[in-house]
Amino acid sequence: MYSNLVLKHFTNPKNQGRIKNPDGVGTVGNPACGDIMTVYIKVKKNKKGEETISDIKFETLGCAAAIATSSMVTQLAKNKDLDTAAKITRQDVADELHGLPAAKMHCSNLAADALHRAIENFQSKHPKKARKASGREKKRIRRR
Ligand code: FES
Repeated sequence: MYSNLVLKHFTNPKNQGRIKNPDGVGTVGNPACGDIMTVYIKVKKNKKGEETISDIKFETLGCAAAIATSSMVTQLAKNKDLDTAAKITRQDVADELHGLPAAKMHCSNLAADALHRAIENFQSKHPKKARKASGREKKRIRRR
């Protein structure tokens, strides 16, 4: 039924909890089963000036697969730049867990969607940074 890795993340989830004063928050629910998941992120610039997820935590009220996928998505996204983290898919999460039973594939949707919402939430709160970044990009392009 579940892979050993799913059971490991369910019984010993990584990055479970809440971040105080997060830079971005994303909450999603599954209306079919009533499960709900919230992802919190902290964002810092790395040495290259890229905004990266320096910390990430989750709170999930849900099934074993929902908790295991929450744990896995936080591990996949931690220390990634925002563009890379935004590309993490539902399938990536399931694959990293060595698969999910077909009836539980929908549970992986929550994890990826909550992460994407947290990133969007951060970006919506920091539109100036985005504009400045694109301005810098334009200058770099012009200098070439
Ligand atoms: Fe609801 Fe798994 S059954 S997310």
